[in-house]
Amino acid sequence: MLILGIDTSCDDTSASVVENGTNIISNIISNQAEIHKKYGGIVPELASRRHIEMIWPVVDEALKTACVTFEDLSSIAVCHGPGLIGSLLVGCSFAKAVCYSKGIPLVAVNHLEGHIFSPFLEESKLPFPFLALIVSGGHTSIYRVDGFSKYRELGRTRDDAAGEAYDKVSKLLGLGYPGGPIIDKLAKNGNPKAIDFPRAYLPESLDFSFSGLKTAVLNFLKTAISHENSNYTYNPPTPPLEKGGFINDIAASFQASVVDVLVRKTEWAIKKERIKRVTLSGGVAANSELRKRIKEMGEEREVEIFIPSAPLCTDNAAMISAAGYYHYKSGNFAGFDLNPKAYMPL
Ligand code: KG4
Ligand code: ZN
Repeated sequence: MLILGIDTSCDDTSASVVENGTNIISNIISNQAEIHKKYGGIVPELASRRHIEMIWPVVDEALKTACVTFEDLSSIAVCHGPGLIGSLLVGCSFAKAVCYSKGIPLVAVNHLEGHIFSPFLEESKLPFPFLALIVSGGHTSIYRVDGFSKYRELGRTRDDAAGEAYDKVSKLLGLGYPGGPIIDKLAKNGNPKAIDFPRAYLPESLDFSFSGLKTAVLNFLKTAISHENSNYTYNPPTPPLEKGGFINDIAASFQASVVDVLVRKTEWAIKKERIKRVTLSGGVAANSELRKRIKEMGEEREVEIFIPSAPLCTDNAAMISAAGYYHYKSGNFAGFDLNPKAYMPL
């Protein structure tokens, strides 16, 4: 069974052909980072305009790479939210038009459900139940997943998502967009203990909070740069790092705070729910330190950890096809009155 997935929820136009919810035949992504780079973040109007230009070429390439036509498809699965409304409208309108004109069944997939199902693209035998930690630019949540459409949110961010914090800190440091991969790289040459940034553990809760950390980095920069009244102690590593070491230390110390919180909260969820199986997905799951630390925690606690390869962590349409497969099998089809929504709980 072949399903064409489409995702235009944010700044990537993506289309993918997936067989039986797990076997990727093609996965095409047109990235807009170049367009938004100079603004230090996504400009929604520019994103939707670019989706309009790219949706047909990207879908066409996904079909051609898979050597199939619309006639070979069992269904089209489209992401209908959450996300940027203008961006979502492009994917949804396109999918509805093709399904209507070609007589193909349409299924609607929640973007977060896509992230939850992304590990299935490499692990067809991932058994339920499991805990799903989704860490992206728009979301940071932990779910208990008991089966298809059986999701319970155990905790979520109360303010910024972890990826948003990466992007904002990168902007503060003048490093560019998206910030996650840049900070990930710089942190490799920095000292994670150089600056003791706060960790919002929020005792008794599986919620997250990252906006205080972002402010702490801002305050650190303001005071450390003037070397006056600093609330933070800056411990330069010995031997001192080469030029650029200061920024590397900020990157590594910021990242240590984010990763410590994510790992600790996952441990709490494992203990609370007594589930020894965890998936990690979303753009920040591409982070090398987070991947390493979650795997180490899994080994220590004898918990199975499933993390998709980095390109399947960030936004892609294959994950929409993967989740769409379960909708299709359950007969959960969407009508042509399908409307995308910017906010959409799972
Ligand atoms: O899942 P995603 O592609 O889009 C959303 O649904 O938000 O996630 C994008 C986010 C961005 O904030 C980006 O900075 C972050 O994922 N990201 C990373 C890394 N790669 C992407 N964050 C940390 N380390 C990375 N290597
Ligand atoms: Zn995403």
